[in-house]
Amino acid sequence: MFNELVIPSRTIMTPGPVESNPVALQAMSSRMLGQFDPAFLTIMNNVKEMIKIPFGTKNKQAFAVDGTSRSGLEAALIALIEPGDKVLIPAYGRFAYLLGEICERAKAEIKYLEKDWTGTFDQEDVIEAIKEFQPKVVAMIHGETANGQMQAIDKIGPFCRENDVFFMVDMVATYGGVPIHVDEWCVDIAVAGTQKCISVPSGLALVTYNDRVEAVLDARYQKELGLSKDDRNENHIASNYLDLSQLQRYWSDERINHHTEATNMIYGLHEGLRSIINEGMENVFARHAQNDEAIVAGIKAMGLGFYGDLETKMPTVTPVMIPEGVDGEAIRELLLEQFGVEIASSFGDLKGKVWRIGNMGYSSRHENVLHVLAALEAALIYYDAPINQGAAVKAALNVYKRSN
Ligand SMILES: Cc1ncc(COP(=O)(O)O)c(C=O)c1O
Repeated sequence: MFNELVIPSRTIMTPGPVESNPVALQAMSSRMLGQFDPAFLTIMNNVKEMIKIPFGTKNKQAFAVDGTSRSGLEAALIALIEPGDKVLIPAYGRFAYLLGEICERAKAEIKYLEKDWTGTFDQEDVIEAIKEFQPKVVAMIHGETANGQMQAIDKIGPFCRENDVFFMVDMVATYGGVPIHVDEWCVDIAVAGTQKCISVPSGLALVTYNDRVEAVLDARYQKELGLSKDDRNENHIASNYLDLSQLQRYWSDERINHHTEATNMIYGLHEGLRSIINEGMENVFARHAQNDEAIVAGIKAMGLGFYGDLETKMPTVTPVMIPEGVDGEAIRELLLEQFGVEIASSFGDLKGKVWRIGNMGYSSRHENVLHVLAALEAALIYYDAPINQGAAVKAALNVYKRSN
């Protein structure tokens, strides 16, 4: 005998996964449709169009890859890379190294442009590195969830375009939370996920790419042998499952038979996207910006410090310095066990030094911000941490009252 599932109630203020939009969860429990059912194809076509809106693109191609965000990152990179190709990875946080890891396994020649994790690159420095290394691909992260920094890319993209370099960007932690302009910034291929600012459970990656990338995919297209003996290609993409050239044809009117689509995930994606698009993207961005201001005001009022440059901080993540002498994990445990509030720890050198408070999607709400600030203050007081008491919630309320 196993007990029935009882899922505890949580206020999730991590940088993902965040609380799912109830509308998306409800849609996911709808009845099954076959993946080639015309009713499902209509849903897929709508999803394709909706994916483009938070990306800020008119690209023909936008669809979902089954798998978490990194499946989209891998699909994007292996589509462009052939063994020996040069890839430049400007790294200002953890996830840049994930891109490198993927490129390394694809047998690329990688060069990291590295800096400390407290800020972002001057775009001119990246451009200089491109001139010097002459890569085929520049791959970088728009928002580094690990240290909460957001890179400006509006000059890097156009430089890549003028010099015939492919520009691939991970927008996993910014998509749907901050304005993104894939076309204007000349991003050739962009990737996002579902579990962050669009508040759908983890399990799909979203990709969009332009004609430049589509031409590469067309040149590498190989259809599965069981479906066709004619479409052989010596230069095919190394993975079958993550082959964008086939996935594109599954998501197009050609509807080649590839994987079995996770139809109920696509329902959730539909509703998660529809929800923010109907809220109005400008309103969504303003909501995230205001809740970010309230979190920052509350943390400052407590007398706690921030990790990294506040000027380039992502509105969707706030890295908070754990005060000297405080056991960061004990505080996180108390928050979760007694308040039902989840915040995140950090990776690598920042582990034990920094907490990360997320502000994403359905979790980005006044009551969540007030709840996390009040609970964090109470937990710090419980462990006798030297903080300003009674100021954090008021500072956040002031932000809300001022803008009402
Ligand atoms: C910026 C960034 N890129 C990639 C990933 C990997 O995403 P996933 O865990 O969905 O594969 C994450 C996850 O937190 C992320 O924040």
